[in-house]
Amino acid sequence: MRIFFAAQLDADEAQAWRVALQTAAPGHDWVVHAPAEDGADPLVRAEVAVVANPPPGSLARVQGLRLIQSLWAGVDRLVADPTVPANVPLARMVDPCMTAAMVQSSLWAVTALHRGFFAYARQQQQAQWWQAPQRRAEEVSVLVLGLGTMGAAVSAALAAQGYAVTAWRRIDAAPGPSGVTVLHGAQGLEAGLAAAEVVLNLLPLTTHTRGLIDAGFLGRMKAGAALVNFGRGGHVVEADLLAALDAGTLAHAVLDVFATEPLPPSHPFWPHPRVTVLPHVAALTDLRSAAQVVAENLARLQAGQPVLHQVDRARGY
Ligand code: GLV
Repeated sequence: MRIFFAAQLDADEAQAWRVALQTAAPGHDWVVHAPAEDGADPLVRAEVAVVANPPPGSLARVQGLRLIQSLWAGVDRLVADPTVPANVPLARMVDPCMTAAMVQSSLWAVTALHRGFFAYARQQQQAQWWQAPQRRAEEVSVLVLGLGTMGAAVSAALAAQGYAVTAWRRIDAAPGPSGVTVLHGAQGLEAGLAAAEVVLNLLPLTTHTRGLIDAGFLGRMKAGAALVNFGRGGHVVEADLLAALDAGTLAHAVLDVFATEPLPPSHPFWPHPRVTVLPHVAALTDLRSAAQVVAENLARLQAGQPVLHQVDRARGY
C-alpha cells in the first residue's frame, strides 16, 4: 500500500520513526509529507496516513485515504482539526509499552505524594531534617479520572500497591479492574472528589472534558489534596489551579501537560513550590511496540478486517 507519513517531529525522531515503521511493516511504499517551496501541500495519493501532530492542512490533499493512524494516544488535535478528512476512519495509538510507562509515572507520582517525597525535596533546599509520620497505602484514597486503557491499567496497579482506588468515567458505570470502585456521572465525580486525597487525571480531551478541572472542581476536592495531570493541558483552567495552589487548599500539583507546550519560561508553574513540572513525558509512544501496532492495523486493512482502536469521532476518542 501507499502510506503517507506526516509528523511534526525533529529530523532525528522522524527518521527513527520511519526506520521503525518500515522495519515493522515492510513492502509498503512510504511517502513523507513535504510542503512545496511556496508552503502549499502537494496532491498525494495514499491509502493510509500515519501521523504524529501532522501539520494542519497536510491531510486535506491526500486522495484515496482509507485509514488515518495516529502515533499518539491522544487524538484531540486530529478530531478538532477541520482539515483532517472526517469521513476516513481514524485509529488512535494503544501501545502496551506506553501504557506501562504511564503506570510507572502514576505509581511514582502517587507514591511521592503519599510518602511526602516532594515535601522532602523542598526540605533539602533548606537543609531541613524532619521526618513525617509514615502512612500505609490503604489510608490514601486515590481517584483516577478516566477508565480507558491507561486509566484501567493505572487503577489496577495502584490497587495492587494497596491504595484505596476509585475510578471515575464520565458516561457509564461498567465495572473496572478488581479492587477498584467505579463512579460515573456528575454525582459520582462530586462524591469521588470529596473523598480523594490524590486525583489523577487520565481522561481524553473532548468537548465534554475541556476545562473540567476548574475552580468548581478544585473547590469540591478535599482540603490538602493533590492533583496529578497526565491527561491534557486543556483539561485544566490554569488560573483556577494557580489560585487553589496559592491559597494552599490544593497541597501539590504534578503536571505533565499544559495549555501551552513547551511551558513558557515565564509561566508561574515553573517556580511554584507546590508544583512539579514534567515536560510531557509521563508516557511517550514507544517506537518499536507502536510500529508493531501500526503494522497490525495495516495488515488488517489489507485483509479487509476492522482496524484496532478506531476513534468514535462523535465521542472524541
Ligand atoms: C501523548 O500525550 C499521546 O497522546 O500520545
